[in-house]
Amino acid sequence: MVLHVNGEKHEVAVEPDVALLTVLRDHLDLTGSKYGCGEGACGACTVLINGNTAHSCNTPVSSVAGKEIITIEGVEKSEKLAALQKAFMATDVFQCSYCASGMIMAAAALLKKNPAPSEEAIAQAMNGNICRCGTYPYIIKAIKLASGL
Ligand code: FES
Ligand code: FES
Repeated sequence: MVLHVNGEKHEVAVEPDVALLTVLRDHLDLTGSKYGCGEGACGACTVLINGNTAHSCNTPVSSVAGKEIITIEGVEKSEKLAALQKAFMATDVFQCSYCASGMIMAAAALLKKNPAPSEEAIAQAMNGNICRCGTYPYIIKAIKLASGL
C-alpha cells in the first residue's frame, strides 16, 4: 500500500492490520514517534492524519493509506510547526523527552483549530498526552508562547 508521510510517498508491503507506529518506526525508519502504552492511552505515539491527532500505536496502517500523515520528523518542513517546536525548546519544557513528539503533534493540532487557546483549552486538548516527568505547567507555557508567534 502507499503511505503519504511528511510530504513523501512510500510504498510498504505489510499486513493491513499492522499498527501505523510499527510501520513508521520499523519500515520507514521514522523513530520520533514513541511506543508508550500501546493501547491509545498515553499519546507518546501521536501523529497527525489529515490534520487531526491519531494514536499511531492502535491505528491499522490500512486505514491511513492515501491520507496525509505528519510525524515529528515532518515538523521542520512546516514553518508554523517548526515555530511551535522552537517554542517548546525555548521554554525548556522536557526532562526525559519521551513524551515530546506526541506533545508537539497534539499541540500542533490544537493550534491549527484554535490559534489562541486559553490555558483551560490547552489543558483540555492535551489531556490525552501523559508526561511521566510532570512537565505540564511548562507545556502550557510553551503552547501559550507558540500561540503568539
Ligand atoms: S503508545 Fe500510543 S497512546 Fe500510548
Ligand atoms: S519529559 Fe519525561 S515523559 Fe515528558
